[in-house]
Amino acid sequence: MKKVVVATEKPFAAVAVNGIKEVVEGAGYELALLEKYNDKAQLLEAVSDADAIIIRSDKIDNEVLDAAKNLKLVVRAGAGYDNVDLAAATAHGVCVMNTPGQNANAVAELAFGMMVYAYRNMYNGTSGLELKGKKLGIHAYGNVGRNVGRIAKGFGMDIYIYDCYTPQEIVEADGVKRLDTVEELYSTCDIVSVHIPATPETKQSIGKALVGSMPKPALLVNTARKEVINEPELLEVLASRSDIKYVTDVAPDAIKAFEAFEGRFFATPKKMGAQTAEANVNAGIAAARQIVDYFENGNERFRVNK
Ligand code: 3PG
Repeated sequence: MKKVVVATEKPFAAVAVNGIKEVVEGAGYELALLEKYNDKAQLLEAVSDADAIIIRSDKIDNEVLDAAKNLKLVVRAGAGYDNVDLAAATAHGVCVMNTPGQNANAVAELAFGMMVYAYRNMYNGTSGLELKGKKLGIHAYGNVGRNVGRIAKGFGMDIYIYDCYTPQEIVEADGVKRLDTVEELYSTCDIVSVHIPATPETKQSIGKALVGSMPKPALLVNTARKEVINEPELLEVLASRSDIKYVTDVAPDAIKAFEAFEGRFFATPKKMGAQTAEANVNAGIAAARQIVDYFENGNERFRVNK
């Protein structure tokens, strides 16, 4: 009997776990659950006899892959897979998949929650600003970015995007304005919402030059990854321009230094963009179905490693 382990340091909502269980057990497989673990040894133990694992931002490295002797498949229930060592997985003969788009609306909604929070001065009762009529820059127009664009229309915002991979038909169908360079996006927009993945090319790519070029007052919203921010440079820009605010769902490494900018910086206590029952159900059940489809039909549609 195949064994599927759900290994989530940050657990799914119970309703999602029930859904995963139904799919996995419905296929005749066994399901095991490791939630809220705080020690890597627990993960190593849990995966030791797993054929497939479902994870979130949980780190899958060489050591985990070595411990998982029967492992054939890792499904990251979510979009970003920078937490999985893809080369090591390939070397171990393990297929890695993600579930693109399944939690995108949840992340996009949080981006707006954070925008309103920042524009209303962290709800401190003083007079703030409205989103309506402001220029919103969407930095990468993938699944989350597109949802941000859809919601921004409801707020009456003027929407700009930077993304060289988005087909022109989508840009036209969505009625957003595409800018040719990332520099133009930042120098044009009042608010920039970041949706790039963390890759060798994007890491530390958002710093002084981009944020410092934004019109006043500027708001940077990050629901993507902390690694894409050049933290020393962003701290420098926050110090030199008192109009800039930074709100993030991914706490920076230098959190103490950022917290010194009271009223202009906010980080959620724990990454929660995808933390809704709906997103957990969508991503969790998609992951379970992809596992069954992989074992039963060899479907590798969402494979992300070679
Ligand atoms: C993703 O990449 O899907 C999001 O960042 C959500 O991550 P999480 O599952 O760890 O909340």
